Parts: sequence; structure tokens; C-alpha cells
Amino acid sequence: MPPQRPWWLPRRNHVILTSQFLHGEQVAKSACETLLPLLPEGPFRQAMATQIADEARHVEAYARYLARIGDIAPPRPLLVQALGHIQDWRGSAVGLVLATHVVLESEALAIQQELARDFPCPVMQQISRLSARDEGRHLALGRVLLHAAALQAQQIEVRLELHRRLRCLWRDCAAAAAADHGLAFARAAPEARLETGWRRLQARFRRVGLIGAGEDSLFAEASA
Ligand SMILES: [Fe+2]
Ligand SMILES: [Fe+2]
Repeated sequence: MPPQRPWWLPRRNHVILTSQFLHGEQVAKSACETLLPLLPEGPFRQAMATQIADEARHVEAYARYLARIGDIAPPRPLLVQALGHIQDWRGSAVGLVLATHVVLESEALAIQQELARDFPCPVMQQISRLSARDEGRHLALGRVLLHAAALQAQQIEVRLELHRRLRCLWRDCAAAAAADHGLAFARAAPEARLETGWRRLQARFRRVGLIGAGEDSLFAEASA
């Protein structure tokens, strides 16, 4: 079955939009490759190697889709910047796990669910369904790694600094996603959509122990 471009989407925008999915998967793969050597030998590292293979498969699937369209667009500068934040990451592995498995994965999953719902190309929907199944497993690996890191036992200063850096990373990813949304639906993503995304991420930060009980206002103040 050939790719089907939605009637309301100009060809150029179709190419730019689907190319961002390819580049997004490449960012996920590179981020995991940066994280791999920081993990201890054993099951965690093996699970991460499996994830890298999954991400390579996702890159392949989008590359095949674009080859059938017969064109490809470069990554958005914001996406390149997001990858830069990750590749330049210094410090503990836990920060990188938060960056890759909480910020990147959860943003990617949200975009993919939106796409599966609104993008009426059966080939694209099949790719996003298959990769969403893997992404669910990747999120679970992130939860296990973060549980092992006992984030809540870290000093508040350390967690505030991590939170600040993760906010910068999220801002770039969210702005790139908002631009893609504007391209697909011919309108800019509403402010409320960004706010919802940030609130969703804060809730995840609370669940993994980056933000402790009773610390909400402290973290909100620091990121204002
Ligand atoms: Fe992926
Ligand atoms: Fe993933």
C-alpha cells in the first residue's frame, strides 16, 4: 500500500512533517547510545542495547516511508539543539535517563498518539502503532532505571539543577513539536497545549521522585 497524503496537507509539508519523525527517532537512538556506556554491565545495559535496536528499526521504517514519497527534509534546528543538550550532558547517568526516558520518550509517545488519531495515512498509522508498542516498553525501562537510582534520596540542590536542565531540553522539543503541529493543521499549537505538556511532565517528575512531596512550589518558583 503506498503512503497516502491527507488532502489538506501540501506535499512539501507532508515531507517536512514525516521527516521530523525520522529525525526524532534518530535523536532517540543517539541519546540511548550516549547513555549506554554509563550504565552498569548486566541486564540494564542489555535492555538498553535492545532499545537501541528498536530505535534503529523505527528510523528504518520512517526512512522507507520517505523513500516511497521520494523526498526528505532536514531536521528542525530545535531538534538538533535538543540532541546537543543530550550529547553534551555531563554528570550522573540518572540525568540522562530522565532526559531520554522521561522527557524524550513521553513527548514522542504523546506526538505519536496524536498522529495515529489525526493523520489519515494507513501506512503511517501502522508505523506509529508498531513503534508506540516499543515506546511503552522503553518508558517501562526508564521507570526501572529511575527506581534503581533512588532519585528522591538525592539532595534538593542536585534535583533542582536537573529539573532546570530538563526544562531547557523539554522547551526545545515542545517548540519543535508545536511547529510540526502548525504545519499539519495550518495553525500554531495553542499555548494551552504547551501548558498541558509541561503539567504532564511535572506529574511524571513527581512519580519518579525528582520532585518530592511538598516540593511543588519550590520547583515551580525555580522554573518561573
Ligand atoms: Fe522510537
Ligand atoms: Fe523509544
